[in-house]
Amino acid sequence: MSPADETGRPRRGRRPGNEKQIEALLYEALETEIGGLAIYETALSCAVNESLKQEWREYLEETRTHRRVLLTVFEQLGMETERETPGREVARHISQALLRAMRMAQTAGDEEAAQRVAVECVVLAETKDHANWALIGRVAQEHGGRMGKVLAQAHAAVAPDEDHHLYHSQGWARELWIEALGYPAVLPPPEEIRQAHTAIGAARARQQRGEMLHH
Ligand SMILES: [Fe+2]
Repeated sequence: MSPADETGRPRRGRRPGNEKQIEALLYEALETEIGGLAIYETALSCAVNESLKQEWREYLEETRTHRRVLLTVFEQLGMETERETPGREVARHISQALLRAMRMAQTAGDEEAAQRVAVECVVLAETKDHANWALIGRVAQEHGGRMGKVLAQAHAAVAPDEDHHLYHSQGWARELWIEALGYPAVLPPPEEIRQAHTAIGAARARQQRGEMLHH
């Protein structure tokens, strides 16, 4: 993640950046993880496919860990976890809208459709979650101080899960839609079969879906 110096050791920058905005990002990130827990619980009640359920049970557990990691970050940085911020309010509003969308689909009574809505809601939530952690990684890399060090540790613990959550969910959304459209689908999706954990890996897996269909 960090650029290496001549000795090959990771090098951290010396740019503290806008610390107020970094704190605002951390509040959004915490609220996104809290919303994620409720989103996975409701998404699980919409899931029909057994391997999708299995996948989401793992993601729910990992999301619990991410929230805990952030709570530790707040403690280490002496930040109040209960503080309200405008960004946090928006993040909560979006999470609640995603929950309502899933319940709406459940009420409509088509369980395959409700499952697709749930997967799309998970992709939307994980897109924000993934972006938050990528930015936390950026701060960790640029910030030379204690904040950078604390965030580097948290980022190393969480970022690989976030890659997984986003790329695999995108695969599920695509393949479940293709199936619904009446075309051959790869389920579980290629991203999962190939254990994709980077954007490039996910693109490669997607490229090979044709071969996976023929086996
Ligand atoms: Fe997360």
